[in-house]
Amino acid sequence: MKLIVYNGSGRGKSGNTALLLDSFLKGFTSVEGNTFEMHILMHTSKMDTFTAAFGEAENVLLAFPMYTDMVPGIVKKFIETLEPYCGRQGNPSMAYMIHCGFPEGIQLRALEAYLEKLSRHLGSRHVGTILKGNSEGVRYTPPEKLPQQLIRFEVLGKAYGQTGELDKDILSTLSQPERLPGWVATIFRLLSFTNFGNSGWNEELKKNGAYQNRFARPDGEDK
Ligand SMILES: Cc1cc2nc3c(=O)[nH]c(=O)nc-3n(C[C@H](O)[C@H](O)[C@H](O)COP(=O)(O)O)c2cc1C
Repeated sequence: MKLIVYNGSGRGKSGNTALLLDSFLKGFTSVEGNTFEMHILMHTSKMDTFTAAFGEAENVLLAFPMYTDMVPGIVKKFIETLEPYCGRQGNPSMAYMIHCGFPEGIQLRALEAYLEKLSRHLGSRHVGTILKGNSEGVRYTPPEKLPQQLIRFEVLGKAYGQTGELDKDILSTLSQPERLPGWVATIFRLLSFTNFGNSGWNEELKKNGAYQNRFARPDGEDK
């Protein structure tokens, strides 16, 4: 089985998407005869190559992080290039891997529905969507401290490589917790009155010389 893989992270090869994909593909390629071809959507100048690869593919895995409750711009751009393939006979099967910073699986459910609709528009067999919350810490954590999570991705990849299907039990484990218990949500609500939630982001803004623009509204009414 040959799989065409798209990595839609703005961090390309150094992001959490790449790490989760590594484990999944380790399992996938452990099945004899399985191969994959990786496309990093961040390299937008190669968009024509990405679209053409879709046209030739039998099986596709589109993996990306959630950005602002939706898809990163580079993923949206790629999806829009697929319009000529809508309803074409022989389109590839579609599997998706989506993940996000917030820990609750429910954060990703609307996006999951959007992707199911995308498969329907394309007329592709919808294999399913891998959902994982709390992914921002993945790249900061040494692999030996992440055994359970990464092993689940590997086992999922192997089973997919054998059957062409995503194991429903593993999918349901990876998307947990669906919702945080009420008392945890209350603690987060209280913390939102402090600088706790912003400190990491503020550090990034300062590092990139953008701190003074943190309240900018480039598309807002007061532009
Ligand atoms: C611009 C941007 C927007 C984001 N929006 C969300 C969001 O709406 N909800 C969420 O849970 N996480 C959000 N995140 C967190 C990412 O989904 C998370 O950090 C993910 O692990 C990044 O994956 P990557 O390293 O492969 O890019 C956002 C991150 C960025 C950079």
